[in-house]
Amino acid sequence: MLFEPYVLKDIRLDNRLVRSATYEKGADNEGFITPELIQRYEALARGGVGLIITGGAPVHQSGRFVPKMVGIYDDKYIDGLSALVSAVHALGGKIAVQIAHGGRQCYPELLGGELPIAPSAVHEPVLNITPREMADEEIWTMIHAFGEAAGRAKAAGFDGVQIHGAHGYLVSQFLSSHTNRRTDNWGGDEGRRFRFLEEVYKAIREAVGVDYLVFIKMNSSDHLCCGGLRPDESLRIAQRLQAIGIDAVEVSGGMYESSLRPARTKILHPEDEAYFKEPAALFKMSLNIPVILVGGIRTRAIAEEMLELGYADLIAMSRPLIREPDLPNKFMAGKDKSDCQSCNACMNFRKLDTVKCVQLQKLET
Ligand SMILES: Cc1cc2nc3c(=O)[nH]c(=O)nc-3n(C[C@H](O)[C@H](O)[C@H](O)COP(=O)(O)O)c2cc1C
Repeated sequence: MLFEPYVLKDIRLDNRLVRSATYEKGADNEGFITPELIQRYEALARGGVGLIITGGAPVHQSGRFVPKMVGIYDDKYIDGLSALVSAVHALGGKIAVQIAHGGRQCYPELLGGELPIAPSAVHEPVLNITPREMADEEIWTMIHAFGEAAGRAKAAGFDGVQIHGAHGYLVSQFLSSHTNRRTDNWGGDEGRRFRFLEEVYKAIREAVGVDYLVFIKMNSSDHLCCGGLRPDESLRIAQRLQAIGIDAVEVSGGMYESSLRPARTKILHPEDEAYFKEPAALFKMSLNIPVILVGGIRTRAIAEEMLELGYADLIAMSRPLIREPDLPNKFMAGKDKSDCQSCNACMNFRKLDTVKCVQLQKLET
């Protein structure tokens, strides 16, 4: 099944493999697309993946969470984004952009001395910062920023937009009872914690129309010891999104301070793979929209099994495609397993000049 075509909304994908959103530290310091970044996406397109999702692109300056992210918060980025899309399309690839805001998980040095913003002033222990609680007006500014960013995505020619609703960034912060302690209309119970995402979704739809592919990556659980999103609430959020028209959902989990994070290490055996398969199956059973499974998929056999047993409709990978952008073609030619060791050295964002497979680099030198 893995190499059978799939129609997502009305986008025809050559196969069911997706490059999950992966930040590359590949834009310039201002967030403009570089020739080197275009080359990376060309390698992915040539490598045979059915759909590429870009790394998270900040919808607002206050939402830049790591250096050299691709900007989408101003019209000045449209030309570069459009060149990126054209390069992928010229090779027959499909590409969606992930739109994001970092909220309390922004490296403070990127915000020029300003405190990161968040639904509530809940201390973030990994970056060791306490964000500033957003005012009502600021919340609406960010909602409109998501809508405007989606409009730019469409203008640049992307095949769709993915809302980054996972991993403890701003949208995920509003959904989580751990990070959203508000008692106004934006927090307090499940419905009010959902409201920010609902308004973001509505602003996006208003900007791009009903025919455009709009999907989301969201946490199935925050994996926190106390509080935070759990699978039952996460499923209800997905059901609410389905009811208002979201086109697909990618199932992930965890945030910076979680015991279990989105990109886990020690994927040594087949049973360690596809570590979000249970929540994905729950989503599949309860929703009518396509479900994308991400997290630790390393072998072709497991990817096939996940599709055949109905855990998901599409299979997404991140780290394996950093190591081997042409892994889909290699799978198709008979390769069984990604060479990725899930060591996470590619995530040493502060130290690396650009995101790359450090193990591969060691072999080459
Ligand atoms: C270098 C790197 C950058 C990432 N950037 C993003 C991102 O921008 N947006 C996102 O939703 N997830 C991001 N992720 C998480 C991946 O998309 C994925 O959910 C996670 O790595 C698990 O999948 P994998 O086992 O196939 O790597 C990133 C992961 C890595 C390793």
